[in-house]
Amino acid sequence: MDNLFDVAIIGAGPGGYVAAIRCAQLGLKTVCIDDWKNEQGKPSLGGTCLNVGCIPSKALLESSENFERAGHKFAEHGIKVEGLSIDVPAMIARKDKIVKAFTGGIGMLFKKNKVTALHGRGSLQKRGEGEDGWEIRVNADGAEQSVHARHVIIATGSTPRVLKAAPVDGSNVLDNAGALALQQTPGKLAIIGAGVIGLELGSVWRKLGAEVTLLEAQADFLPAADEQVAKEAYKALTRETGLVIHTGVEIGSTQVNAEGVSIGYVDRDKNAQSLQVDKLIVAVGRVPNTTGLGAEAAGLKLDERGYISVDEFCQTSLPDVYAIGDVVRGPMLAHKASEEGVAVAERIAAARQGALDSAAHVDLGMMPWVIYTAPEIAWVGKTEQALKAEGVAYKAGQFPFMANGRARALGETTGFVKILADAESDRILGVHMVGPYVSEMIAEAVVAMEFSASSEDLARIVHAHPSLSESLHEAALGVDKRAIHI
Ligand code: FAD
Ligand code: NAI
Repeated sequence: MDNLFDVAIIGAGPGGYVAAIRCAQLGLKTVCIDDWKNEQGKPSLGGTCLNVGCIPSKALLESSENFERAGHKFAEHGIKVEGLSIDVPAMIARKDKIVKAFTGGIGMLFKKNKVTALHGRGSLQKRGEGEDGWEIRVNADGAEQSVHARHVIIATGSTPRVLKAAPVDGSNVLDNAGALALQQTPGKLAIIGAGVIGLELGSVWRKLGAEVTLLEAQADFLPAADEQVAKEAYKALTRETGLVIHTGVEIGSTQVNAEGVSIGYVDRDKNAQSLQVDKLIVAVGRVPNTTGLGAEAAGLKLDERGYISVDEFCQTSLPDVYAIGDVVRGPMLAHKASEEGVAVAERIAAARQGALDSAAHVDLGMMPWVIYTAPEIAWVGKTEQALKAEGVAYKAGQFPFMANGRARALGETTGFVKILADAESDRILGVHMVGPYVSEMIAEAVVAMEFSASSEDLARIVHAHPSLSESLHEAALGVDKRAIHI
């Protein structure tokens, strides 16, 4: 193999593989180095997102939602289901099939775009004075080779944060990977951390019949979301989905025993509690992956939290070395990683032609967030509490799904859409949703905000009837107190 490249990318998650394809599209000779191995010990492209994150979790959410519908919601449509049961291994096999199709698909995309894929752990070597380009050593099970590249993009992602009091053993105490591979529904399941993973995976196993208890350290539920949305979601997830959520707890210790796992914790009223469950999932956040990257030796600066330090264009402290995705500041989201990958690829290509593509950057303030529970939660822009804290004068318009015809037909009437607009200019500052399929609806809000739309702009746009998107339209009308159907 010719080992001289224009760009070397370390990591083939949604940050790295997308950056690699975009670099190749722009005519750059590109290598993408990744060390992920699947359960069969085979290289598997796609990083966390495709192997043990976004894709498998949504596959299981869909299966569990179908089971729940068949068991509890079909009856009101007059559909009778007798002898309903769930074959968990078949559900997991379906999920594995989806993962295999997607991870294999990246290999094909690499071939089509002439990206060289190298399996192994990449480490950046220290560069000599006056030297151009970078050497990356790639170690695959002890066999080492080197590649050289003018530019490097680090996209090494993140791994689950370890909680000393609850060490993951892959059998009783699980991280996200283990939680996505259970072969039977646990009778009782506890989850430490009521964040995004806790709520999504908790919902999966709850809908399949487990008793699920979430133990959350923070006093408030989902503090990053708009307060009103968090309140509505809490109500729905506890009353409708049946999750038990304890906030403000302090985990003491966990013990694996013959019956499963026992968890000792102090509740929000400072009373000692213990909980015996069959399985425990630990989902207390993720940490940037810089181990074995040679960061320190190469002189790469990390910030105080261990993320690779970058500027707004993902440039690191080293010349021609960029970093993107979960390993740098900002939300740990697949689409954020991918868009940073595209922006960096375009900047590298522009720089090589002596230009600077200043348009190629990612606005973190316009990042859509989605939590795929039922109801789904989605938002973009500022929350109401953030606007208050910043002293920004705003107007709000809100519309409940209860008054939306399509939501009624679906039988999914929990939740609402809320639009926050600047009191003077009417420019949309934030859109917050909780309800059915808001993961799809949030895109319209992002487009509107990217185009600096006012709430009046959205109010004047025709929305198909009956559709869930009419709730966004009505919320926009509501900003000016002229919603029709409420
Ligand atoms: P990663 O996807 O983590 O990929 C990094 C890759 O680099 C990995 O393959 C890793 O093995 C490899 N690597 C690391 N170090 C080296 C090295 N030195 N040499 C070679 N290779 C290396 N986000 C969403 O937007 N939507 C969702 O629905 C969603 N659901 C999620 C569900 C779960 C259960 C989890 C855990 C995460 C979810 N996320 C979701 C988050 C999303 O998966 C991450 O934000 C995304 O994968 C980050 O992409 P990345 O490319 O930065 O890193
Ligand atoms: P998270 O940050 O969303 O939630 C972790 C939760 O654990 C927090 O609420 C935190 O307060 C709590 N916690 C921390 N230490 C604790 C302790 N000792 N005891 C009890 N609770 C404790 O992180 P999570 O859920 O692990 O997910 C990681 C990231 O993956 C997310 O932040 C998100 O960026 C990404 N992700 C995105 C998804 C999506 O976009 N739909 C789905 C799943 C994950």
